[in-house]
Amino acid sequence: MDHLKQKMKPTVKVLLLVSCLTVFLVFMSGYLKDTPLSLDVGSGSPCQQCLSDDQWFAARFNKSVEPFLSAEHTLPKDAFNWWKRLQGERGSYSAYSKTVEGLFEIVPPKPDLVEPSSYRCRTCAVVGNSGNLKGSRYGPLIDFQDVVIRMNTGRTKGYEADVGNKTTHHIMYPESGMDLENNTHLVLFPFKIQDLLWVTKALTTGFTGTSYMPVKSKIKANKQLVMVISPAFIKYVHETWLQKKGRYPSTGFMALVMALHICDEVDVFGFGADRRGNWYHYFERLRSQKLRTGNHPGIHEYEILLQLHRQRKITYFRGW
Ligand SMILES: *[C@@H]1O[C@H](CO)[C@@H](O)[C@H](O)[C@H]1NC(C)=O
Ligand SMILES: *[C@@H]1O[C@H](CO)[C@@H](O)[C@H](O)[C@H]1NC(C)=O
Ligand SMILES: *[C@@H]1O[C@H](CO)[C@@H](O)[C@H](O)[C@H]1NC(C)=O
Repeated sequence: MDHLKQKMKPTVKVLLLVSCLTVFLVFMSGYLKDTPLSLDVGSGSPCQQCLSDDQWFAARFNKSVEPFLSAEHTLPKDAFNWWKRLQGERGSYSAYSKTVEGLFEIVPPKPDLVEPSSYRCRTCAVVGNSGNLKGSRYGPLIDFQDVVIRMNTGRTKGYEADVGNKTTHHIMYPESGMDLENNTHLVLFPFKIQDLLWVTKALTTGFTGTSYMPVKSKIKANKQLVMVISPAFIKYVHETWLQKKGRYPSTGFMALVMALHICDEVDVFGFGADRRGNWYHYFERLRSQKLRTGNHPGIHEYEILLQLHRQRKITYFRGW
């Protein structure tokens, strides 16, 4: 199946390219011969569709935005000033810089990433925690991907048939911190300077501070596999992808955009509501029938996810 996938992909791409090119040439030859073009050429033409699709995506996806902090990465001041207001941070830029310095004494100066190559397709599964995973039997499909990204309180034990049992990357912030296997990357989404301090301390001597929720003083995780999302990346997702809707993006949506940056093929599971329109976690009993999106522009994010799916930038498995 892996082979099939790798062989199919370039073929499909070439076919798409050829069909686009053909329509473009037909369009151009009509233009050059000065034949009047009827107005509805655009709406029905597949190429118009590809062009506008690409524009929609290109207006959002900026390949040169670096998702992760690294020792040599300097955070622009404007990104810091935007980020520090998210959770009412009081620290200064120099306090931030010092904390990051301390962090890179504990974790590798560069994130552990697989670089793109023309030889292989980096396939990723982004696994949200939606109740629509229940009974989905997606486990094997999820585990089949090279990279499996889970988040926050997402767990696999007892749910393997529906969610799989492999986790190569686990996204968390201090308030959702948990112990990880030795071969799982800890991906920190920081929302304040203290979060950067937390990961540094929780992996070494223990963290003693407090937050708006209890946080674990120590966690088990492989220090060599820690990666930290850049505040500039959060700002980019908020401004470029969400057009500043909501206060800041949800963890799930950021995970999705992160995957677009580090994978060649993105399959998305466990996002959105279940068949009856309920939003809850697969590992919880359904309590509220109401939409719970908190500070996040949930519906808007979901529409973007659907749009990415329609444009074949991702494949969304909705569970029903
Ligand atoms: C893409 O991101 C880079 C790096 O942050 C930035 O310099 C550039 O202006 C961005 N491009 C667009 C089109 O926004
Ligand atoms: C995960 O599931 C696969 C197939 O179901 C199984 O072979 C493997 O032992 C499981 N791994 C773990 C760590 O549970
Ligand atoms: C965890 O993995 C690292 C390599 O990344 C290795 O050095 C270490 O011994 C492993 N620890 C355990 C408990 O397996």
